[in-house]
Amino acid sequence: MCEIGFFAPEALTDSQFHKLSSFIHTNVGIKMPDEKRLMVQSRLTSRLKSLKMDNFDDYLKLAFSNTPEGNEEIALMINAVTTNLTNFFRENAHFEYLTNVVLPELAKKNEKKIELWSAGCSSGQEPYTLSIVMQEFMRKNPGKIEDYSILATDISSKVLDKAVDAVYPMSEVESLSYDLKKRYFLKSKDLKNPCVRLKPQIREKVVFERLNFMDSVYPKTTQKNAIFCRNVLIYFDKATQKSVIRKLLQHLVPGGYLFLGHSETIFGMELPLKTVGPTIFKKE
Ligand SMILES: C[S@@+](CC[C@H](N)C(=O)[O-])C[C@H]1O[C@@H](n2cnc3c(N)ncnc32)[C@H](O)[C@@H]1O
Repeated sequence: MCEIGFFAPEALTDSQFHKLSSFIHTNVGIKMPDEKRLMVQSRLTSRLKSLKMDNFDDYLKLAFSNTPEGNEEIALMINAVTTNLTNFFRENAHFEYLTNVVLPELAKKNEKKIELWSAGCSSGQEPYTLSIVMQEFMRKNPGKIEDYSILATDISSKVLDKAVDAVYPMSEVESLSYDLKKRYFLKSKDLKNPCVRLKPQIREKVVFERLNFMDSVYPKTTQKNAIFCRNVLIYFDKATQKSVIRKLLQHLVPGGYLFLGHSETIFGMELPLKTVGPTIFKKE
């Protein structure tokens, strides 16, 4: 006979939560104050369910076992505790600034290939928006910029898999103009599950890689003209925010641009950055 009912493991105790929260804070950077205990418990419940475990002691034993299975579980735990909310053309003023200020400036300097980085790219909507913005600029300003490339990184393997697929529910692009949808998206024929996929010309310009901002050194990559690191730093404490921005700046050309999320600030950080717009900074 099959059992019917909700799966509910034993509640996460304070000491179990502190073990988890200090691990996440140290290794992922995300602040985990006590108010997040219920959120962590509910997000990890599906992991316990998949593992057929009914208590967090067993779960922690596995995750911190220093075995290949444990390390795999840590990656899944990180997927579960990160917040991946995003959408196409989010905080559109930044994309307008890129189009109206940054790209004309680079074209004037005769930069033929533009290098961009979406750092904390989640499921791909931000780097694909950048790719659309680049193609729109090149279409409207022929010959000014010839090529571009976008590096897109995140710590979560789950969102990166989704990003590589580049398939999204139709509802996510409803607010885009008819022209943009027609030019850059393919429509599924499945009427029950309407979705879209970015066209190859948009996808092939974006390279996805897994990167943890807490790593001491970021991978060797070309110097970027602009870095978008938006709605990520809010989850970190001030010291971590500053250290992440410093590491990002090593990959930004002098005069390059850093875009942060609308509620993020560099106030009091003494960084070689000049504010040029709302949460838009230029490297000195
Ligand atoms: C809220 S999303 C922001 C997505 C996009 N930048 C935007 O503004 O729409 C934050 C992303 O940061 C990622 N993240 C959190 N901690 C990270 C870390 N230590 N290293 C790299 N990425 C991290 C999460 O996995 C998540 O996908």
